[in-house]
Amino acid sequence: MEKREQLYEGKAKKVFKTDDEDILIVSYKDDATAFNGEKKGTISGKGVINNQMSNLIFKVFEKNGVPTHLVEELSPTDTAVKKVSIVPLEVIIRNVAAGSFSKRLGVPEGKEFKEPTIEFSYKNDELGDPLINAYFAVALELATWEEIETIKKYAFKVNEIAKKIYLDCGLKLIDFKIEFGRYHDQIILADEMSPDTCRLWDVKTNEKMDKDRFRRDLGGVEEAYEEVFSRIKKELGE
Ligand code: TMP
Ligand code: ASP
Repeated sequence: MEKREQLYEGKAKKVFKTDDEDILIVSYKDDATAFNGEKKGTISGKGVINNQMSNLIFKVFEKNGVPTHLVEELSPTDTAVKKVSIVPLEVIIRNVAAGSFSKRLGVPEGKEFKEPTIEFSYKNDELGDPLINAYFAVALELATWEEIETIKKYAFKVNEIAKKIYLDCGLKLIDFKIEFGRYHDQIILADEMSPDTCRLWDVKTNEKMDKDRFRRDLGGVEEAYEEVFSRIKKELGE
């Protein structure tokens, strides 16, 4: 399968057409941004890590009944995926308070919840991805109630599966963001799941092992991504 015309370049990925109308190629970059693109940098090796990590974990989701866009890994940075129309919602699941939840609600980072939470942000860079609820999503015609129910079901399932995998790697899954797409009227998991889109804390040391090291200038960014990837590869690699 070969790349044809570039369709889109985002903050962390490029997307190309292929000869098959139903299939695109996603190419992961080392570029990193935070705070809606205000902070820019490079995390060397990130493209390779995020591509391969996402694919390893998406395969487990598939096996456990969560359909995904994954078709085939083509190279260390490139993957063939089903062409979806993205549901413009950032779906965030939290197991432990951190980040914007802690800031908005005055809850210390690290407070564990009895049950995971779910929230939606409207994917809109101009508005800064505002937090919305399901009624807003339906009113804005971003998704139907039926789609929202499916998204919720898959998102919590992803959380259960991913939490266990990461725990087996000595990492606590604090929170994460996922996105869904429509593929021939079916809702499937799209985008990625990587240290860019999750908070992962080392079980023993509580050290942050994710993009917060970049967002908060904590140093050791590349090393953290490499450590997470090596643990995941040991756990899930073929
Ligand atoms: P938050 O605490 O900043 O709302 O982030 C919640 C989770 O979502 C965290 O794991 C990081 C991830 N995230 C993204 O993947 N992309 C984004 O643009 C933002 C704001 C958060
Ligand atoms: N990727 C997002 C951005 O650049 C934010 C983030 O991950 O913190 O804006």
